[in-house]
Amino acid sequence: MNPNELAAQLQFFKDIGVDSLAVGAVGEAQARQRAASSNDRPDVQDLDAVRAELGDCQRCKLSPKRTNLVFGSGSRDAELVFVGEAPGYDEDQQGLPFVGRAGQLLTKIIESINLKREDVYICNVLKCRPPDNRNPEPDEVASCNPFLKKQLAAIRPKVVCCLGTFAAQTVLQTAAPISRLRGKFFDMDGMRVIATFHPAYLLRSPEKKREVWEDMKQIRAELFRLRA
Ligand code: URA
Repeated sequence: MNPNELAAQLQFFKDIGVDSLAVGAVGEAQARQRAASSNDRPDVQDLDAVRAELGDCQRCKLSPKRTNLVFGSGSRDAELVFVGEAPGYDEDQQGLPFVGRAGQLLTKIIESINLKREDVYICNVLKCRPPDNRNPEPDEVASCNPFLKKQLAAIRPKVVCCLGTFAAQTVLQTAAPISRLRGKFFDMDGMRVIATFHPAYLLRSPEKKREVWEDMKQIRAELFRLRA
């Protein structure tokens, strides 16, 4: 972290009311805590096992049309996971989530809270591209959602950020519109879940970026609070 970033980070702590910081091997302590707690969850698959179970998935009608299955990418120890809707053209071509224009914006959004893409984990509700980027259909979600749940259980992030209506409604199991869901935390299986606007929507409606910035500041504060 360079001096400017450090100053911004300290200002942020001050803004959220933190007036003292414990300096120590925080990363190591967290890793030890994680290793200890993963032994308490023998029924939970690790990420490699989830990927292996998904295999060369043919569970729904999207599989014959895909170029690549897009499982997810990033840190398997991520404290923060982003969940999008489904791969688009670029993601289908590369087998990686959020690598097109919306993905470039997502990278900037992640960096806005002093994280890097490699620090977080990024995946989608659907692992295969719907034709012409149409909306996911219920049978496709029913086939894929168990794998998203297993990914989240394997990583066990502190915070899950749902990108857009579809991810928010699927993860939170609700039909409420994104305008009602975004910007507040929900508790789910020991994780804090928040929704914000999808980066593809921000490309069409850049005036909504301010609200996403508010949501990202909340995420940053929540991560900091949960680390304390
Ligand atoms: N939009 C999504 O929801 N996911 C991606 O991976 C890319 C674009």
